[in-house]
Amino acid sequence: MSAEAPISRLWPAPSAGLDDAELTALYGRADRPHLRVNFVTSVDGAVSLDGYSAGLSGEPDKRVFGLLRMLCDGLLVAAGTLRHEGYRAVRLDAPRRAWRREHGLAEYPTLVVVSGSLDLDPAQAAFADAPVRPVVLTHAAAEAPPRLAEVAELVRCGADRVNLAAGLAELRRRGLGQVLCEGGPHLFGALTAADLVDEVCLTVAPLLAGGGPGRIAAGPAGGHRELSLRHVLAAGGALMLRYTRDAAPAPPTASS
Ligand SMILES: NC(=O)c1ccc[n+]([C@@H]2O[C@H](COP(=O)([O-])OP(=O)(O)OC[C@H]3O[C@@H](n4cnc5c(N)ncnc54)[C@H](OP(=O)(O)O)[C@@H]3O)[C@@H](O)[C@H]2O)c1
Repeated sequence: MSAEAPISRLWPAPSAGLDDAELTALYGRADRPHLRVNFVTSVDGAVSLDGYSAGLSGEPDKRVFGLLRMLCDGLLVAAGTLRHEGYRAVRLDAPRRAWRREHGLAEYPTLVVVSGSLDLDPAQAAFADAPVRPVVLTHAAAEAPPRLAEVAELVRCGADRVNLAAGLAELRRRGLGQVLCEGGPHLFGALTAADLVDEVCLTVAPLLAGGGPGRIAAGPAGGHRELSLRHVLAAGGALMLRYTRDAAPAPPTASS
């Protein structure tokens, strides 16, 4: 994929060379509590290439990935992805921090980690270097490793498993109403099963990964949900799709 591929809108209302302000307006923030999920996949549905999502992602996907981080209050990630992908502290560049200040938001979103085991390393940069104290959503029976509580706030939702609906309600209570989930597949599967997903942003990378990697959703079967297509963007052969659970507004007619 080209390193500088411009992003165009194919549908609705084709428009070439979208700038960051236009992209920001296209994704926006919801006017109510909202859970947006963002994934990248290969054309044949793989969640990773050589074990990581980086092999699927190009410069346009990374650009949207960064904008979506700018737009959220809370950045939700499962412990599996945090550990495997070696999450670093959530940082934004100066223009994006300025955008947040201008819109009355905290300078950085809060990292929110979902873990049942609390098998988390307090020295991992995502915790140790965080500009905002991360939240860990866990359950009452989970035992925290030494020093985790020094670098993160443990929020216990559920007796012996994480109750995701209660966790999201607690985030809303703390002012984190706009939540961006970056995966991984087990968390996405559980959120879908609990019908907590409001929006899915999906980049389709122009490649075949072949057999081996899993899908972007994993876990027990169940959770068939209808979605409405909101836009189709394209860049360097990749498609960036935005779907929501609520019905899309009717397209403008010639008389409207
Ligand atoms: N393509 C993409 O956009 C994308 C995005 C993200 C990840 N990935 C890929 O996905 C793979 C990692 O996936 P994964 O199988 O490890 O899945 P995952 O969903 O990232 O992590 C699973 C772990 O998260 C915690 N967790 C998730 N849902 C939970 C729930 N409902 N309640 C309690 N804890 C929950 C548990 O952690 P504990 O074990 O601590 O209890 C569980 O073991 C990696 O290859 C990564 O590169 C790809």
